[in-house]
Amino acid sequence: MLEIRNLHARIAEDGTEIIRGLNLTVNKGEVAAIMGPNGSGKSTLSYILAGREDYEVTEGEILLNGESILELDPSERAAKGVFLAFQYPVEIPGVATMQFLKVAMNEQRKARGEAELTTPDFIKRVKAAAEELKINPDMLRRPLNVGFSGGEKKRAEILQMSLLEPSLCVLDETDSGLDIDALKVVADGVNALRSPDRAIIVITHYQRLLDYIVPDTVHVLYKGQIIRSGAKELAHELEANGYAEIIGQAA
Ligand SMILES: Nc1ncnc2c1ncn2[C@@H]1O[C@H](COP(=O)(O)OP(=O)(O)OP(=O)(O)O)[C@@H](O)[C@H]1O
Ligand SMILES: [Mg+2]
Repeated sequence: MLEIRNLHARIAEDGTEIIRGLNLTVNKGEVAAIMGPNGSGKSTLSYILAGREDYEVTEGEILLNGESILELDPSERAAKGVFLAFQYPVEIPGVATMQFLKVAMNEQRKARGEAELTTPDFIKRVKAAAEELKINPDMLRRPLNVGFSGGEKKRAEILQMSLLEPSLCVLDETDSGLDIDALKVVADGVNALRSPDRAIIVITHYQRLLDYIVPDTVHVLYKGQIIRSGAKELAHELEANGYAEIIGQAA
């Protein structure tokens, strides 16, 4: 599904290299967790996958189902099924969440060669998905993310994800700011998206989320490289011992 080979990327504005020879493969049906100290490049990697223009890839390859996505702009990547749930979701004043969802879903359907949803069908789907995620329907009338609490923003991200049915989902610290119940609701939402033809990347600092979303693989990102990969036990090891040992071994 996703293959990243020897990726090097820098900040477009000042040329600082953030991703420094990163290799990562995530297969279809797999949930991969990425962990790593603050500032190691996790969010940067997710922005680069989504195609944000603030970063420049200088070397290496990102392949989605065997095809390079580096030349594609963010909307083309979204059409190919790449979905990124941001660490800090953006507020979109003036656009009701419902309206945003409708446009996003229909764009996605157009890209797949499917017909637009009828309004009743759209509303039915949104209501069902919102209920699953325990999102108050009143919230859907408000502008997307504007004035939403931290936890509400995260739920809204998962709502978008479940409606858009992406093939590659990247969740950047979706657990941060969630209360204990919301963490479970959001994790259930993500688990419901597990599918043999979808890959999910979960970026998190804490093992706690991985108790709910049990990953198939765990990768440690440090200074722009994956320095260790393992099974779910690796997350327990990190929780117990921190990063020092692994960083020492990689040096
Ligand atoms: N646009 C930018 N301008 C300046 N520095 C940047 C920019 N984008 C990323 N960086 C720097 O790149 C490094 C990696 O940042 P990134 O946000 O990817 O880290 P992270 O692993 O997601 O950290 P955290 O766990 O705190 O979320 C940091 O040192 C950050 O300051
Ligand atoms: Mg980050």
